[in-house]
Amino acid sequence: MITNVGILGTGKAIPDYILTNAELEERMDTTDEWITSRTGIKERRIAPPDVAASDLGAIAAKQALDKAGASPEEIDLIIVATITGDMPFPSTACIIQDKIGAINASAFDLSAGCSGFVYGLDVGQNMVRGGYQRVLVIGVDLLSRVTDYEDRSTCVLFGDGAGAAVLGPVAEGYGIISTDIGADGSGAKFLQLPVGGSRNPITPSILANREHYLRMSGNEVFKFAVRVMEDSTERVLEKARIPSKDIAWFIPHQANVRIIRSAAVKLKIPDENLYINVDRYGNTSAASIPIALDEIVEEKGISDGDNILVVGFGAGLTWGSAIIRWGGVMK
Ligand code: ACO
Repeated sequence: MITNVGILGTGKAIPDYILTNAELEERMDTTDEWITSRTGIKERRIAPPDVAASDLGAIAAKQALDKAGASPEEIDLIIVATITGDMPFPSTACIIQDKIGAINASAFDLSAGCSGFVYGLDVGQNMVRGGYQRVLVIGVDLLSRVTDYEDRSTCVLFGDGAGAAVLGPVAEGYGIISTDIGADGSGAKFLQLPVGGSRNPITPSILANREHYLRMSGNEVFKFAVRVMEDSTERVLEKARIPSKDIAWFIPHQANVRIIRSAAVKLKIPDENLYINVDRYGNTSAASIPIALDEIVEEKGISDGDNILVVGFGAGLTWGSAIIRWGGVMK
């Protein structure tokens, strides 16, 4: 019999410091009007210098464990979706494993940009089907650490944060009903941090030329995002045999309100079923979907049996979507 795998608890960590459009206006040649009309972003959160991915990830993880009623020792596996881990190695998942005392968990990082959390859900559910009882999936990014605050075309977009979910077996008819993950590596050049790896190790001249920052072809990523969000959500709905009118919450990756609205219109999802928080956090990369999910759980309320559709796109280029039927938690 195939195990049904669902979300048993969620958590998030959002830094306190708010970087507003007004502050960016003072620092560079941009306007609140430009940022708001092109992206929908009004403000974003920035972590203080002494806070790294594992710090935010551990806070989100502890909340998720609490809400799931699970102890750290019960966790079999930790998957951390991130492109801004504490350091190239060891994995941020190992650092978090130690921070939260998940002594029985194996741990690894997953690099799929902003699609990372949905990739993590898919990998995690298969690990539960393979016999694990509790898998912790964390999405965390501090893109402020790899963003050039002299480049107005990228720095207005990103913020820092973390979100987490505990996966485990749930009752029949509940949990992750369908997933669709994919990649198109030919688009790698459109969104990358081209230095700091084995291709271009950091050198003094790279630092002097300010080449150690994220680079993005915004228009190319925009076109890709609109296309894959439509295609991937169609596939995942079809696999689940659920019409879009039966989706209680649509949680798209929070990168740009124009991309979000275009996806919602294509899917005919009305505003009351669409979740948007990009205005408050900007693009938090792998954290965006689990933060939104936790806000819905905490502030909006999800009922047992609600269908949730999540979809992300990001560096790789990658995409991922999933349908989760909420509830079915076994006592
Ligand atoms: N303030 C004022 N003007 C600006 C700013 C700014 N902050 N940034 C760019 N401009 C100017 C440009 O210089 C350009 O001026 P020009 O016409 O004189 O050359 C003009 O605005 C238009 O620029 P475009 O890049 O064409 O603007 P566009 O409408 O495409 O919006 C944006 C740019 C917001 C980046 C959009 O392309 C986008 O959202 N793309 C998707 C990005 C994304 O989602 N990335 C995250 C991927 S997820 C991950 O894995 C991290």
